[in-house]
Amino acid sequence: MSPKAGRAQNRPPNATPAPPQSDDRIVAAAAAEDDPRFDRLFRPTSLDEYIGQSAHKENLRVFLQAAKKRGEPLDHVLLCGPPGLGKTTLAHILAQEMGVTMYATAGPAIEHKGALAGLLTRVQERDVLFVDEIHRLSAAVEESLYPAIESFQIDVMMGDGPHATTIQLALQPFTLVGATTRTGLLTAPLLTRFGYVMRLDFYPVEDLILIVHRSARLLGVDITDEGALEIAKRSRGTPRVANRLLRRVSDFALVLGDGRVTARGAAEACERLGVDSAGLDEMDRKLMHVIIDTYDGGPVGVETLAAALAEPRDTIEDVYEPYLLQQGFIGRTPRGRVATKRAYEHLGIAMPAKASPPDPQGALF
Ligand code: ADE
Repeated sequence: MSPKAGRAQNRPPNATPAPPQSDDRIVAAAAAEDDPRFDRLFRPTSLDEYIGQSAHKENLRVFLQAAKKRGEPLDHVLLCGPPGLGKTTLAHILAQEMGVTMYATAGPAIEHKGALAGLLTRVQERDVLFVDEIHRLSAAVEESLYPAIESFQIDVMMGDGPHATTIQLALQPFTLVGATTRTGLLTAPLLTRFGYVMRLDFYPVEDLILIVHRSARLLGVDITDEGALEIAKRSRGTPRVANRLLRRVSDFALVLGDGRVTARGAAEACERLGVDSAGLDEMDRKLMHVIIDTYDGGPVGVETLAAALAEPRDTIEDVYEPYLLQQGFIGRTPRGRVATKRAYEHLGIAMPAKASPPDPQGALF
């Protein structure tokens, strides 16, 4: 079967709707509400400056060197993972390391094939085209992307009606860097056309400490090692959250203290922001409470959870769940989400004993 023939049949013809982001949370990992000044200030511009994801980083170094030695563009790269882990940052770094221009767009923004053709014909030799939320490309746009990334050519429709003809345009060899929070939604034909798939993991606390220290240095904020550790522990494995917490915590330190971020100051500021010792906020705790209090610990379907929390299903799956699952606060079963022992312990709720088998003597009804 050709990869094209393998295209998901049940995919809607248009781009999937935008997954709403809960941006009002201090621990929101979505970029939307970040101040772009700080995003730019914190963003590392080379692989050397980039902290964490070391196995991938070393691989990328090799691929970059090989591409440069051959005088070819870097192979197409897919970056996957929850929001805030540095997918856009890495795309910028790849372009920077190749010494080329990066054009950035997002799946839903490429509304039709003509828009894609317009973008691709602007791209120069070895440039990077960054497509965020690539799983939300419409089926038609995705299909016209295949020849573009495979053989650097694109079919363009000229005219319409009975006089319409298709001409083939040659493109400059370029690199597609795709980013997605949902690898599962990517069609097999698209997935197989990437030369390197990089799955970004949540960052360990040690890496987040280094990121907090680096960002504090860039902001000119005085911070102790313990202060950096306190912020790192509450950042849900996400550099963007760490940077945002650092900014808020340093506000408290400046106004209520002497400007220096200490462990105690960081912990108190985080508590005031509703971020607890595990980095969970009100919404995370509410989600666990719904499973435990309303649905006896689960299993509860994601649609039911979404309705109970008045949040779209996508937000539950993309924003809240990944960290709660990774940290073992909740589990996913075929019948829905369940609260784990850790969730009960964290919320200070006694875990009920396992339901005992039905009592045959009591089977009166
Ligand atoms: N800021 C955000 N992510 C970063 C990373 N991975 N390394 C250094 N600084 C960062």
